[in-house]
Amino acid sequence: MASVTDTRPAAVIVLAAGEGTRMRSRTPKVLHRIGGRSLIARAVRAAAGVRPEHLVVVVGVSRDRVAAHVLEEEPSARAVVQEEQCGTGHAAQCALAALPELTGTVLVTYGDTPLLTAETLGHLVGVHEEAANAVTVLTARIDDPTGYGRILRHDDGSVAGIVEERDADDAQRAVREINSGIYAFEATVLATALQRLRPDNAQGELFLPDVLALARADGHRVGALSIADGWQTEGVNDRVQLARLGAELNRRTVERHQRAGVSVVDPASTWIDDTVVIEADATLLPGVQLHGLTSVATGATIGPDTTLTDVEVGEQASVVRTHGAGAVIGAGASVGPFAYLRPGTRIGADAKIGTFVETKNAAIAAAVKVPHLSYVGDAEIGEGSNIGAGTIFANYDGVSKHRTTVGTHCSTGSNNTFVAPVEVGDGAATGAGTVVRRDVPPGALAVSTGPQRNLEDWTLRKRPGTQAAEAATRAQDRTEETRP
Ligand code: UD1
Ligand code: CA
Repeated sequence: MASVTDTRPAAVIVLAAGEGTRMRSRTPKVLHRIGGRSLIARAVRAAAGVRPEHLVVVVGVSRDRVAAHVLEEEPSARAVVQEEQCGTGHAAQCALAALPELTGTVLVTYGDTPLLTAETLGHLVGVHEEAANAVTVLTARIDDPTGYGRILRHDDGSVAGIVEERDADDAQRAVREINSGIYAFEATVLATALQRLRPDNAQGELFLPDVLALARADGHRVGALSIADGWQTEGVNDRVQLARLGAELNRRTVERHQRAGVSVVDPASTWIDDTVVIEADATLLPGVQLHGLTSVATGATIGPDTTLTDVEVGEQASVVRTHGAGAVIGAGASVGPFAYLRPGTRIGADAKIGTFVETKNAAIAAAVKVPHLSYVGDAEIGEGSNIGAGTIFANYDGVSKHRTTVGTHCSTGSNNTFVAPVEVGDGAATGAGTVVRRDVPPGALAVSTGPQRNLEDWTLRKRPGTQAAEAATRAQDRTEETRP
């Protein structure tokens, strides 16, 4: 089998000018995403994978958005505009017109066929060149060929041409071998045949598949490469297919990680973008979604029910029922259940972020504990400090944000408020309910609440006749009785 690196095609042309009406979306079809990347980005990456001399994307509807996105994803690509969508043959004409005269192999693919791999394209080029074909079409045999162009073969098995569903007779419709729409062409044969296309079909368009019959009539060799993995030829036309292909892509991604040593307890409820890196011996519990540039180191356990986007998880860390984005979790740290890590959160090794804790733009050092019901925003907490339950880092004065610094080995009381900007020195402590407005020197104990006053018989005077008053009276009577 020819590998991706064997040959360099002259060009890959990615067709993406179509409207995608059936998506019923304001977003152009090829910008919809599966597995964390747009359909067109996937198509263009596969195309770039065979290292063509020219990589052209034909854009039409929403050309500016699509072209800008393509260039961002693949700077070597070039967008060519097809003003009016007069068919796949016309789209190929537009692409060739924008290129210098080509020799060698030209591939055509689609922007809405996201599971096609560079390996398959490389294989197509290899087979095409080895057989010295003028055209090689990628085909698949599928159970329900409805809607696809059918591959017509002569009695000797050689490819005669392609007929579109709308132009096919009953016998042709019964053919289950379909045109994927992905082809390798000999450049000069393609250029000549495109000149001769006529819109003599039910749709009145210029059909790229008609190039096969034209090439054949000129005595050129036309072949087919039939692939067993039909998913690679499936296109997205509506949101049902988008989800279907998204699920299949995810199934493949999860399986790849499992084979590389990651434990995935419930593949069906685990969604992993293919940009995510996971080391062997990590464990993903049910209901986990890992997105973007998330990475999970060996021995870490994620989930159940956790969504992480661009989060780095260290070795042996545990992240339970957590929503996180743009955060770093140190080795051996423990997060959740029910934590919310926002961008700029950096959690040190063996630290603990507990239940109902929200963090943002916070450097939380090694072995720090923020165990319960707290908000830590725009803060720095030094190594080994313990933050009491229900603590708020009040970072916002209504106009601007300020930082709080807590030193190393501090022990702050429950229900504290740190009114930023404020600094707590190393080894300092605070009492329960303290509102820390002024800096606390190293080693000091800060208390801000006044001494407690008890107003005797307040309930009896202010709430006479209530259950509370009766309970208080009974308790007082009991105290009298037991008094010596
Ligand atoms: C096409 C093929 C069909 C094949 C199927 C595979 C033709 C005539 N038919 O049918 O044999 O089985 O793909 O999915 O080619 N496009 C343009 N400009 C145009 C028209 C289309 O760029 O003027 C692009 C579309 O954006 C899309 C691709 O070409 O990415 C295919 O177009 P579409 O209209 O979906 O073709 P099908 O009818 O599916
Ligand atoms: Ca289509």
